[in-house]
Amino acid sequence: MNGFSVEASPKPIPSCPLCQIRKESGRKEDSLKELFIEKLKDLYSAETQLVKALPKMAKAATNSDLRAGFEEHLKQTEGHVGRLEKIMKSLDESPKGKKCKGMEGLIKEGAELIEEDPGDEELDAGLISAAQRVEHYEMAGYGCVATYAKLLGEDQAETLLRQTLDEEKETDKKLTQLAQHINVEAMNSEGTEAATSQMKSRAARA
Ligand SMILES: [Fe+2]
Repeated sequence: MNGFSVEASPKPIPSCPLCQIRKESGRKEDSLKELFIEKLKDLYSAETQLVKALPKMAKAATNSDLRAGFEEHLKQTEGHVGRLEKIMKSLDESPKGKKCKGMEGLIKEGAELIEEDPGDEELDAGLISAAQRVEHYEMAGYGCVATYAKLLGEDQAETLLRQTLDEEKETDKKLTQLAQHINVEAMNSEGTEAATSQMKSRAARA
């Protein structure tokens, strides 16, 4: 030991460039951690809002596969809430205290669609569109926080966040598969409705 170990030094030395770099990187790490916690709270709010909205979406869906998909994703979403609670506990933080306005808006749009009460196929196609918007919003959110966790060395949090991210991606894929035939049914039903109204107006003119 030469008695001049910087690592062992209790106080940063103002004239020491290494101490300044450490101080600056410490500040950056602190602000990234704040952002990490803020975004985790935002996701917690998003997921808890979704836990309330998914049963309504499942109830509104007329296609049985779509309904089953929403019910399955509800169980997954409850798991996502649980993971976020676990991460926040490990960080000694509360998951509550923030309202995710983005998710609030997306859910509101879905609720408006249900209230409009379109035909069955149009409703299902619209519900898929609303659900995919939700999934993409969540995928963006989880992608960010997983990266923050990696940078901060929060390995367990990163693993849990990536598990949720993978499940959101999987749900999005399933919705795309369902959309392939439900959107076609909606298109065909629109065609049938248009033909029926055309026939009615012709009959009225005759
Ligand atoms: Fe989720």
